[in-house]
Amino acid sequence: MTLIFAHRGAAGTHPENTMAAFLEAERAGADGIELDVQLTKDGEIIVIHDETVDRTTDGSGWVRDMVYRDLRKLNAAAKWNGRYGHCPIPHLEEVLAWLEPTRLFVNIELKNNLIAYETLEQKTIALVRRYGLEKRTILSSFNHNSMRFCRTAAPEIETALLYMEPLYDPWTYVRVMKADGVHPYHRTVTAAFVADAHCRGLAVRPFTINKPEAMKAMFAYGVDAIFTDDPRRAKECKQKTP
Ligand code: G3P
Ligand code: CA
Repeated sequence: MTLIFAHRGAAGTHPENTMAAFLEAERAGADGIELDVQLTKDGEIIVIHDETVDRTTDGSGWVRDMVYRDLRKLNAAAKWNGRYGHCPIPHLEEVLAWLEPTRLFVNIELKNNLIAYETLEQKTIALVRRYGLEKRTILSSFNHNSMRFCRTAAPEIETALLYMEPLYDPWTYVRVMKADGVHPYHRTVTAAFVADAHCRGLAVRPFTINKPEAMKAMFAYGVDAIFTDDPRRAKECKQKTP
């Protein structure tokens, strides 16, 4: 059965990576949420996609140059013309504390492919363990070195390799990296690829799928989950897919 993960929360209808978007994901009946994490100057894990705050907030600058107290003052719903009021950038702990009593899964994407963020892995793993979410968490990153590090640091938490372009000999690569699954760009995914992955006990969760036709194809292939900005549409589409 294909699970539905709300990408950056329900980012198609709500300000991405905010509690408003995560709450909407739960209301929409998503099975899980996907979020992105970066590290502040003073070492706090915040939930934000970009390395800078410019695109999604009313502030400007690099996350790594700003302290958490100042980042909290920014409005992550600033680009939504007042529709969602003031939504602070969440701390990862805030999201995990909210998620713990729900049944939701969480995919924490470590955004450490441009900036290495020393300690991001250890701090993220520590928080996941503090909330007892090891079995409902998938760690992923475009930084595969980081995923290999997480495999050793937290053997009990699933890891997945994110990528955009098709991999050469993916199964050898995934075995060497000791990952539990792959998170490919959806246009690289075929039915045969999913079947091959499943033969090897690996999960396939493609991103980011918003069009019903593409959703239907992924459901037919039997992928383990899809990432979508519109979990309501995905739920509807799934119900209609034989
Ligand atoms: O985890 C899937 C997807 O979120 C990866 O791309 O840029 O939306 O973080 P991006
Ligand atoms: Ca992401």
